[in-house]
Formats: sequence, C-alpha cells, structure tokens
Amino acid sequence: VNQGNGIKGLVDAGIESVPELYILPIEDRFDASRVVPEEPIPVIDVSNWDDSKVIESICQAASKWGFFQIINHGIPLEVLNSVKEAAHRFFGLPNEERKKYWTGNSPSDTVALKTSFVPQAEAVLEWKDYLSFRYVPGDQESSALWPPVCKYQVVEYMKRAEPVIRKLLDVLLKGLKVKEIDKAREYTSMASPIVNLNYYPRCPKPDLTAGVLPHSDISTITVLLQDDNGGLYVRASDDDSWIHVPPIDGALVINIGDILQIMSNDRYKSIEHRVVANGRKDRVSVPIFVNPGPDAVFGPLPEVLESGEQPLYKEVIFSDYFKYFFSKKHDGKKTMDFAKI
Ligand code: SIN
Ligand code: FE2
Repeated sequence: VNQGNGIKGLVDAGIESVPELYILPIEDRFDASRVVPEEPIPVIDVSNWDDSKVIESICQAASKWGFFQIINHGIPLEVLNSVKEAAHRFFGLPNEERKKYWTGNSPSDTVALKTSFVPQAEAVLEWKDYLSFRYVPGDQESSALWPPVCKYQVVEYMKRAEPVIRKLLDVLLKGLKVKEIDKAREYTSMASPIVNLNYYPRCPKPDLTAGVLPHSDISTITVLLQDDNGGLYVRASDDDSWIHVPPIDGALVINIGDILQIMSNDRYKSIEHRVVANGRKDRVSVPIFVNPGPDAVFGPLPEVLESGEQPLYKEVIFSDYFKYFFSKKHDGKKTMDFAKI
C-alpha cells in the first residue's frame, strides 16, 4: 500500500476492497446499534448575539453537550458552498497535481496535504485525506503559494468566519467572567487558526474502517462546516453511545476543545467525537481549529478560580500540548492527561 498518495490516491488507482492497513480491529469499529435516537444537539439562532437567551443557550450547550450548531451567523450560503466546492476541486485534481502539496514537500510552509492523523504512530489508518492551512490573518503573502483551485475560497471563508469566531469566544469567555478579549486574551484564545479541507472518499466497506477515530479537539473552539452526507457522531455517555450531528444547510457545528475545557476548569466540555466513513458518496468537511498562539501559556482562568476553587489542570504551553497531540494516534480524551494535576 502506497500511503504517500493518500486514500484518494488509492481510490483513484481503482481499489475495490478495503486494504488491510485500513481495517480496524473489531473493538474499534463503530457499532451502529449504539446510536441514541435523535437526542438533539442544540441548534442556536445567533442573529442577535446580544440577546441574553442566545448567550445563555450557548454557555449552557457548552457546559452540557460541548457541541451545538449555529444558524443565521451571517456567513452567506454562497461562501459556505464555495469552500466545499473548492475542497471537491482540490481532491478532484490528478494525483500528480495534488501531490505537489504533500506534507514535507509543499511549496509553502502554511499549506500541507496529509492523510489519516499520525500515520507513523497508527497501526490502522483513517479513511481520510486533508489539506491543512495555517491561516495568518491579513498576511497576503502566506497564501501566495496555496493551490489556485481553492485558495480564494479558503481565504474568503476565513475572513467571513473571523467575526463569528470572535463573537463565540466573547460569549463563552464572558460566561467564565472574563470581561473582554484584550490583546493578551486574543493571543491565548484565537491567534493561530488552522483550517482544513477534509476529504473522505466513498468507502466500499465503511463498517470496517474509521473516517476519524474517537478523539477530542485540542482547540479552544472548533467551527465545522459539513456537507449533507452526515457521519459525524458525538459521544453521548461513558458507556459508548453516540449521537449523530444532523447536517443542516447553512449551519455551522461548534464544539468546545480541550483548551477551553482546561481554561474553564471543566465548566465547558470538550467532548469526544468520531466520523464514520460513507459507503455511498465522497464527503467533505471544513473545520477551523481556533488555536492559541504557539507560545501561549494556558490553564484554568483566574476569573474561574476567583472564589477559591482548586485548579484541575496545571499551566501548559500550547506548542507542547500540540506536539503531544500529534505524537500519537487518536485516543479519545487521553491528550488531556498531559495537563491534569
Ligand atoms: C474531526 O472531528 O476530526 C472531523 C469532523 C468531520 O469531518 O465532521
Ligand atoms: Fe475533531
């Protein structure tokens, strides 16, 4: 198996069955009988960010579910559709064209094509390729060498998403008694976003594979645009039951990442989720991982500990946490042990 062309490379080469390297041991496979029937993840209309009901719904969803969807966020449907189309265009390029951006070989240090999660550390690979961008707001040059078939759409989407991200963090941090997002807070909460174009080609035997294995995100928050295929599941309880996140046209899926759980000293929850591969169609999704700057030091916020509460986590440098996450396979919520006291 030539993993250097990614899973899309294998599919293009005409594989008709699932290669050994992608077949999960039975205990890691998704058990569809464990899906909880439509226990709904909140859908929040954010047309008025200042409405106290909106603020309350967001903070409650962050505490109870760690996941919610937002609608009427102001990003035009055309912008959302364009970035999804751009993902299809990039992954529709001939293998040789796509490969120019392969990680380690890309012409730009802010874009890289990758496969699975950490292939060097995985016995079984995930059925997913992705093009990953480090987005530097306002820096035209950083995107100069991005693939022409998708760069304008990614930049436009990020420009439009920025005010939404700021509003979300503003609400969530205010819910932790933080007064305002000043420059220092901005650095520790949102300075270095990463945006990915995820591509999950149709899988001949989705029951045997994983699109993405269970994990929690390390971000402060993640803003996810998904298409109408579905396949994203969120852990509902410790006993291995899962809730589907239904695709809603125009909505964005928001989830709390480890960093915000740590900052909130567990008030907000970074919940495990997974992606089940699709047996009928190719799926795309576009997550924005809202990350702190690399040198940011984060831990439970002073505002949260004000009344004498014991911190559950120590202070950690973001780049150390990031490296730890990317040193191992997806393993549920284990990354958080790195910061536990
Ligand atoms: C992820 O959580 O890593 C991907 C989510 C998705 O593609 O829906
Ligand atoms: Fe994730």
